[in-house]
Amino acid sequence: MKLPRFGVEEWLNVNEKSAIYDIAGVSIKALTMEELFDLAGLDKEVFFAQLLKKKMDYGWIEGSPEFKTQVASLYKNMPVDNILQTNGATGATMLSLYALIEPEDHVISMYPTYQQLYDIPKSLGADVDLWEIEEDKNWLPDLDQLRRLIRPNTKMICINNANNPTGALMDAAYLEELVAIAKEVDAYIFSDEIYRSFDQPAPSIVDLYEKGIAVNSLSKTYSIPGIRVGWVASNTEVADILRDYRDYTMICAGVFDDMVATLVLENKETILKRNRQILEENLALMDAWIAKEPKASWIRPASVSTSFVKLDVNRPIEDFASELLQDYGVLVVPGNRFDKESHVRIGYCCDKDVLEKGLEKLSKFLNKY
Ligand SMILES: Cc1ncc(COP(=O)(O)O)c(C=O)c1O
Repeated sequence: MKLPRFGVEEWLNVNEKSAIYDIAGVSIKALTMEELFDLAGLDKEVFFAQLLKKKMDYGWIEGSPEFKTQVASLYKNMPVDNILQTNGATGATMLSLYALIEPEDHVISMYPTYQQLYDIPKSLGADVDLWEIEEDKNWLPDLDQLRRLIRPNTKMICINNANNPTGALMDAAYLEELVAIAKEVDAYIFSDEIYRSFDQPAPSIVDLYEKGIAVNSLSKTYSIPGIRVGWVASNTEVADILRDYRDYTMICAGVFDDMVATLVLENKETILKRNRQILEENLALMDAWIAKEPKASWIRPASVSTSFVKLDVNRPIEDFASELLQDYGVLVVPGNRFDKESHVRIGYCCDKDVLEKGLEKLSKFLNKY
């Protein structure tokens, strides 16, 4: 079945390169290779000497043992064999859904969020129920609503924790209730965990539930979207199913990408420290802006690099965002790209200067209303 257009990615693909102040992207400020070497305390000559000698064959098909060991250590009890490297979280999600979902399966997906989570199962012929996030519940979906949606034959519940675009976080207590509901019908919980909350990191779904499937990547929390590396962590049975499908969809993520990904993960503490600082400083700027901007309000994100800001503008939000870009060079993601009018997604973990100027110009534009 045909896939619909991918709202948020289409908007970014068209507009990203023409923005002067890009406060739409939700990666934490991407690292240059030089910054990565500095943070890792690694002499770049050593790295490049190794690279020059590396055969550009397919490399390690599932990711190098070093990579897989690093990833497994992010979870409580994850066998290294159950980690599969993918082309970003995008590839991990595509792989998992393509391998596990069949026509007429019942799937419940958090909505709105990253569009893959509902439109891929739909395209595979699944019967998809949307489990809506609610503004008056701090942008979380209601667990009682899930109890109403769940069926004896529900195959999978898909979540994005923390949520893109809102930055809302399901904490451990919430996740435990969710797991109890899924367990009753033996459903998988598929969780895209690409956004980490720095204040109170939520447990991974695979640490809570045997039938949890966790997807993650180096694109957001680890600031390296330019290498296309992500992964899936799951139980052995699921990993074996995915393994077979993976041969059809990707083979491997590439020798160079694996090298850089491993370097990032080996130095994750230092990188996360840098990123926590960016997040905290820029979140304080956002707090100050929201406090003084009468036309903007939000449900504050949970120390996550994405935020969803409500704007008091009496016109279609995409028209507003297009004019903002055209006249002021400021790029945000209009909420309609997530099926929510009156909001914009602001990725505030960009360069501080870009954020400050972007918000200043957004205020100028809002003043016209
Ligand atoms: C929730 C979510 N999942 C996956 C992705 C894509 O991640 P990757 O770059 O790892 O493919 C994004 C990117 O915006 C995202 O927001």
